[in-house]
Amino acid sequence: MKFKDKITLVTGSARGIGKAILTKFVEEGAIGIIWDVQTELAQKTAQELTEKGGKVFVVTDVDVRSLDSVEKATEQVLKQYGRIDILVNNAGILRDASLKKMTAENWQAVLDVNLTGVFNCAKVVSQVMTEQQYGKIINISSIVGITGNFGQSNYVAAKAAIVGLTKTWAKELGRYNINVNAVAPGAIDTEMFASVPEDHRKAFIQKIPMGRIGTPEDIANLCTFLASEESSFITGQTIIADGGGTLG
Ligand SMILES: NC(=O)c1ccc[n+]([C@@H]2O[C@H](COP(=O)([O-])OP(=O)(O)OC[C@H]3O[C@@H](n4cnc5c(N)ncnc54)[C@H](O)[C@@H]3O)[C@@H](O)[C@H]2O)c1
Repeated sequence: MKFKDKITLVTGSARGIGKAILTKFVEEGAIGIIWDVQTELAQKTAQELTEKGGKVFVVTDVDVRSLDSVEKATEQVLKQYGRIDILVNNAGILRDASLKKMTAENWQAVLDVNLTGVFNCAKVVSQVMTEQQYGKIINISSIVGITGNFGQSNYVAAKAAIVGLTKTWAKELGRYNINVNAVAPGAIDTEMFASVPEDHRKAFIQKIPMGRIGTPEDIANLCTFLASEESSFITGQTIIADGGGTLG
């Protein structure tokens, strides 16, 4: 029960990696908060966890792209629990295309969720954490933000920016006892990765020394470490979890 009654907010936690992160924290005693645009799925996820004895609160229809939506959702969490201990900025989307074929709409759509969404949540929630003089912020980047990737200009731009923002926020928020770190997953077995063409997926897995794709739980385990007191002197870092895939 490492996170007993810690108010733990995970964006995009209705499914995939976010759901696994939320589950791990809730299993460790945290009160999990779901912010997701998929309300029905969020409620289903919450029900699954509550049936197993977990504590979960869903704020419905939270769109991280909108500062107004994030502010209202934060008010709801504060009204219910009075604090926010842990924020995991996980919500993300893909709209892949080569530079030549990428439309302005797809460029903007990905930056709106994967970058502005992270900014909106960190901006609002860090104010709560600053007042508490306590907080852990974990941003989900990606290895492609470090290596670049064919066909992902929009996604790479956002994920690389997260590496820099993590360092910047660590510098700004350290004095308030807030740790800010990022996780850069390699290929992880979720619906998002399943949407990548099969030949690309195979090529990706062939380059992984551990010989397997990652599981959402691999990422959840790293997040709980980064939110624990065992990592309290680590801040501003981007930790890669990719089975060695980027070693070359
Ligand atoms: N799957 C991978 O291989 C992989 C690798 C590296 C990084 N990541 C990153 O991990 C994170 C989770 O990815 P996943 O594979 O679980 O994806 P996913 O598509 O399964 O889940 C993403 C969740 O985010 C939610 N979401 C989307 N737009 C939102 C918005 N505007 N506001 C609130 N919620 C929103 C979705 O409804 C969904 O529940 C993303 O940031 C992704 O970029 C994934």
